[in-house]
Amino acid sequence: MALGFIGTGEITKAVVIGLSTVAGDKPDIILSPRNGQIAGELAARFANVTVAASNQAVIDAADMLFLALRPLGAGEILKTLTFRAGQHVVSFMATYDVAAIRALVAPADTVTLVTPLPAVAFHGGPTPIYPPDDEIVAMFSPLGTAVAVETPEEYQALCVATSTLAGAFAYYETIADWLEAKNVPADKARAFSGAVFYALAATAKNAPHLNFSELTLESATKGGTNEQVVKLLKERGVYNALNDGMDAIWERFENAKK
Ligand SMILES: NC(=O)c1ccc[n+]([C@@H]2O[C@H](COP(=O)([O-])OP(=O)(O)OC[C@H]3O[C@@H](n4cnc5c(N)ncnc54)[C@H](OP(=O)(O)O)[C@@H]3O)[C@@H](O)[C@H]2O)c1
Repeated sequence: MALGFIGTGEITKAVVIGLSTVAGDKPDIILSPRNGQIAGELAARFANVTVAASNQAVIDAADMLFLALRPLGAGEILKTLTFRAGQHVVSFMATYDVAAIRALVAPADTVTLVTPLPAVAFHGGPTPIYPPDDEIVAMFSPLGTAVAVETPEEYQALCVATSTLAGAFAYYETIADWLEAKNVPADKARAFSGAVFYALAATAKNAPHLNFSELTLESATKGGTNEQVVKLLKERGVYNALNDGMDAIWERFENAKK
């Protein structure tokens, strides 16, 4: 089966690298010519990747199409293209719901919404999928963790949760900066704060039976330093602010639909 990508930017690059480096057979991938530099680099790097002459040539040659255009103006671009019945269209564009994509790609009949994160390139990306589709789950599972959900609301909630990544990095930046302020050299502060980040991720991954509340309790020895810091963060409203941030992004998504 040939996979076609319309819009060869950062997320297409990550997905194509991920799909082209899985174990076993690699899918045939056809890229739209824009962005020329990224498309050219991917085709030069992977034998299973080619660049088509136009967006329409991608659609004509592929069975499954991935839409990875910037949301603004994507509708106008897609209206100029002709899809065919039997094609499966996968949209990465978060602000378009299934009905909106379906209207743009008819008579293509199957539409799936997917929000991969750049970490799919090294097979470490969590990927929300809606509606559940066995083929798409099988494709994205080797690229990290595919999470297929049953309702548009659940999908939107997962997409909102992906807005917290920069905030999480900034948390570890604060630790590294604090270490530097205490005269720990910058490279050691970066290495140490990063190692704490990786250790926590590995701890959570290795204990899927524990929820985050249990992991928090396990890390906060009674009367200990972790308990003191988490109590202060709660009192100062750090986690309420994170919640408010996600509520604000939910509202932004709702307003984008109007
Ligand atoms: N980046 C992420 O982490 C991520 C994750 C999940 C979903 N998404 C969604 O995926 C979509 C793409 O995001 P992105 O970060 O990959 O954006 P991006 O890097 O800006 O890529 C968009 C690509 O579309 C190309 N393009 C512009 N006009 C085109 C046309 N008429 N025909 C074909 N291609 C055209 C652009 O080429 P030029 O460079 O030449 O303008 C660019 O390479 C967005 O809707 C975004 O919300 C992104």
